[in-house]
Amino acid sequence: MPHALIVGDDLITREIVSALCLADHFSIACAKGLREAQMQISRQHPDIAFVDLELPEGTGLDFFDAIGARNKTAIVLLAGEATVESAVEALRLGATDYLTKPVSFRRLQHLLMRVPRTCDPERALQLADRGARHSGHFGPMLGTAPAMQKLYHHIDCVAPTEATVLLLGESGTGKEIAAQTIHDLSRRRLQPFLPVNCGAISPQLIESEIFGHEKGSFTGADRQHKGYFERADGGTLFLDEITEMPPELQVKLLRVLETGGFMRIGSNQELATDVRIIAASNRDPEEAIADGRLRLDLYHRLNVFPLVIPPLRERGNDVESLARHFLDELNLAHGCVKVLSDDGLASLADYHWPGNVRELRNYVQRAFILSDHVLDAAALAPAITTQSPVGLALAIPVGTSLAEVDRKLIFATLQLCGGVKKRAADILGISLKTLYNRLEEYGPNDLPLRQERHRV
Ligand SMILES: Nc1ncnc2c1ncn2[C@@H]1O[C@H](COP(=O)(O)OP(=O)(O)O)[C@@H](O)[C@H]1O
Ligand SMILES: [Mg+2]
Repeated sequence: MPHALIVGDDLITREIVSALCLADHFSIACAKGLREAQMQISRQHPDIAFVDLELPEGTGLDFFDAIGARNKTAIVLLAGEATVESAVEALRLGATDYLTKPVSFRRLQHLLMRVPRTCDPERALQLADRGARHSGHFGPMLGTAPAMQKLYHHIDCVAPTEATVLLLGESGTGKEIAAQTIHDLSRRRLQPFLPVNCGAISPQLIESEIFGHEKGSFTGADRQHKGYFERADGGTLFLDEITEMPPELQVKLLRVLETGGFMRIGSNQELATDVRIIAASNRDPEEAIADGRLRLDLYHRLNVFPLVIPPLRERGNDVESLARHFLDELNLAHGCVKVLSDDGLASLADYHWPGNVRELRNYVQRAFILSDHVLDAAALAPAITTQSPVGLALAIPVGTSLAEVDRKLIFATLQLCGGVKKRAADILGISLKTLYNRLEEYGPNDLPLRQERHRV
């Protein structure tokens, strides 16, 4: 588990940063000032430190001395508006980034995502335990459904190899957790695992983020910057939402994968890289190729070992065991003993989970907050019934033309599948080509696809 240190006496900022770190599975330590910070560092070296620029006994800039020169900690300065200049100074001194207060959740999450994670010994042991696997525990992954057992087996086979893995599955099915598990089972486990969400980086910055840049290579490039390939050296780079990477960059990525070398922007010196790639997408790759989002040549290069993560609605009783697991976690964290009622469990089992495990986790958390002791259908249902994009049944009045029924059914099925045309075609029992032809014939959909869900 990566470790975060939060330094400063601003209580609200400390609460927010620590809550987000905990949610992102970091262990945390807090220190009011530099002396306490030094004590904390001697106990456990942080992977990332959030340091307030205004400290009781000095400034955040003194933290660079406190932590010593040979550290690998990513230092993020927290600046009030008045101190932005010092934050710029901090970047010169080698801080990874700075955040102005009030802290933006999105930026903070983005920073946490970029912290390389290594596998801790406890997790490595859990993964090796075959007995646990049969009872539904494969490291951090839970589930006994046959499709999950098969997935564990495939992960087990591919992890120790150097093969590129392509993880496919709807959003929230567990692609990232699977990628981390592959890394943890590989010989690279003590080297960084670096997740990169290709859809979350601005298109202007993505090339420099991935390959790095030299000082002065473009306006604003005040210092040399190491990209993901350098930072993940020796480890695993997880390229999430690969179809969101701009096509020009896909060409460059393909070149790196083929030659094992890359160049920082503004340099013509080739650097060698030893990185295993795991890529993921929640789009059907064939559709993404047809839409021009994914280059065919890159797809062939990534598709060495494809792994499909099944949607939650195809995992039977796993819904119940996952719900119980998430509730156990919350009970432990909050010192509670809340329980799920039978009708609560039944309402979970009836739902089709378009947002998969992530959605289930959010619903359990929401019901946990709303319920004093028993999480029942009433606490879980409002979220489920109001968030369901379409019911599982379509009401078709007698007198409707067959063509209209056809149209309604196609759009409703598409919506149920989160817009994934291949899956919709499979359910409807027609070819993908026929589905495309019908969609063209019927014109734009009158039902909104992929409704944004409220998350707790
Ligand atoms: N099999 C699983 N067992 C336990 N937790 C899971 C499992 N699959 C997913 N999760 C949890 O669900 C959430 C979404 O998983 P994630 O890997 O981010 O999905 P994806 O990358 O496919 O969108 C995370 O909080 C993750 O820990
Ligand atoms: Mg993801």
